[in-house]
Amino acid sequence: MKRIIICFAILLVFGGCAYRHYLGLHGPTVRGTPDIHDGVTEDAECLGCHDPDGDPIGLPTSHPQFTGCLKCHNDPLT
Ligand code: HEC
Ligand code: HEC
Repeated sequence: MKRIIICFAILLVFGGCAYRHYLGLHGPTVRGTPDIHDGVTEDAECLGCHDPDGDPIGLPTSHPQFTGCLKCHNDPLT
């Protein structure tokens, strides 16, 4: 019984929203805000506005160390 509870606790922790990106899941897409994001392709550009250590104009990202931002943030709008 104890083991089952521990398994659930682990699942909960890793399923928690804040850790979704560590599992390689996709984040919110930038396509909803084309006025801001159109034509932006480089990670360095993204971080110019989203780096938590800088002076973010947009939302600070929790994962500035990632590369290939658009792999996860360029899903088509449904
Ligand atoms: C492996 C996929 C992945 C990569 C690569 C990635 N992200 Fe994310 N990102 C996510 C996920 C999933 C979320 C939503 C969960 C969260 O906030 O952690 C997210 C959330 C965000 C948010 C917050 C959006 C909000 O509405 O709170 C910003 C800003 C962001 N990412 C910017 C970036 C930038 C800049 C890069 C490149 C340096 C990047 N991401 C690379 C998956 C990724
Ligand atoms: C010129 C500054 C700027 C650049 C460059 C920029 N962003 Fe943003 N970003 C913003 C601002 C401002 C917002 C908030 C938009 C809003 O909510 O109206 C935002 C919002 C976001 C969101 C949240 C979208 C949502 O609808 O919740 C994500 C994810 C994101 N940006 C990722 C990126 C990625 C990835 C890149 C690089 C391809 C990037 N941004 C480049 C300024 C920028």
